[in-house]
Amino acid sequence: MTIYAVRPHTPDGDAAAARAARPRHGGRVTFENVGKAFDTPGGQVSALRGIGFTVEPGEIFGVIGRSGAGKSTLIRTVNGLEKPTAGRVLVENAAGERADVGSLSIGELARLRRDIGMIFQHFNLLSSKTVERNVGLPLRLAGASRAEEAGRVAELLALVGLSDKRGRYPRELSGGQKQRVGIARALARHPAILLCDEATSALDPETTLSILDLLKDINRRLGLTVILITHEMEAIRHICDRVAVIEKGEIVEIGPVWQVFGDPREEATRALLKPHADELPDDLSGRIVPLPGERTVPVFAVTYTGAEAGEPDLGGLFGVLGEGARLLHGSLDRIQGHAQGRLLIAAPAVAPQQAAQALARLNTLPPRAEIIGYVDGAL
Ligand SMILES: Nc1ncnc2c1ncn2[C@@H]1O[C@H](COP(=O)(O)OP(=O)(O)OP(=O)(O)O)[C@@H](O)[C@H]1O
Ligand SMILES: [Mg+2]
Repeated sequence: MTIYAVRPHTPDGDAAAARAARPRHGGRVTFENVGKAFDTPGGQVSALRGIGFTVEPGEIFGVIGRSGAGKSTLIRTVNGLEKPTAGRVLVENAAGERADVGSLSIGELARLRRDIGMIFQHFNLLSSKTVERNVGLPLRLAGASRAEEAGRVAELLALVGLSDKRGRYPRELSGGQKQRVGIARALARHPAILLCDEATSALDPETTLSILDLLKDINRRLGLTVILITHEMEAIRHICDRVAVIEKGEIVEIGPVWQVFGDPREEATRALLKPHADELPDDLSGRIVPLPGERTVPVFAVTYTGAEAGEPDLGGLFGVLGEGARLLHGSLDRIQGHAQGRLLIAAPAVAPQQAAQALARLNTLPPRAEIIGYVDGAL
């Protein structure tokens, strides 16, 4: 069993509250000590090790990790495209029926896949078929009549905003439109779970946002469970309730997004977040020196992780830092209703010998504070 930084996830937590407002048609996925080893000419590759967590009905659950971490292998165990070599993956449908994916017969697996839709990075559309024929494909394969297919396809195209493109071919569509077709096709048979493997990685940032918003909208309206695999932090931040960080086949951190992103405990998480965190404009990083000098002023970094109640208390901060305190740089964000970010404040009123004391006082306030360096007091 892997030991990982477990975050509290109580049924009365934020994610559960958000979910309560939605209808319950989502499936539940439980990974029980899942391992996967591939035999390759160069020896065994251990792609997954000791994976254990549950994705709850109606949740949007993100899995993030570097290339090769095991994300695709993990998601593919949910619909039986990969079979675990250790442990079990249990899928519970909206009716509460539970299946152990790895032990299903071919017929049972086909039935399970009706409950699980999947979308991919490269859309996987049939180029010789129109939009409506692509979307209707799963229905045709399931033996639906022409009329049934046409009715459902019209509904699905309306849901993804593509009613006017029904007679077009994939080559006539933009990337975002192609992914909408992929989503419509994945939803054709009313799945309880939607698996998304890098579904927005081939799209530009604006189109990515529109697809993420669509996924969130579908999750709200239909209540289905979404598992989203990505290496894009922004995708997770934008729509996920909880996130798991996977590194070399193991889950190293898991919890509500605001908590994992606001206060990452593991090096792997920090490395993934790095481009966003601790970034300073060049001019400012050039001005900050590590040690105090003759005319320098300490620079305090005050970090809000989202664990503090309410909005940042600036009065409290400036009460400690004294007269003339200047805000050098700051970014504050809100994730799932929690304030997150960092403020850099230069405090000329804090003499070098008082700096440690001021820091101790700041640290009695909710956010976390540190001295990150010194700037020239004359500037
Ligand atoms: N069919 C396979 N045969 C052998 N090794 C495999 C196979 N599929 C995956 N692997 C190996 O398992 C590990 C995890 O691969 P996986 O595709 O799950 O990573 P990933 O996190 O999805 O990466 P990426 O972000 O690049 O898509 C890698 O070391 C990969 O080489
Ligand atoms: Mg992958």
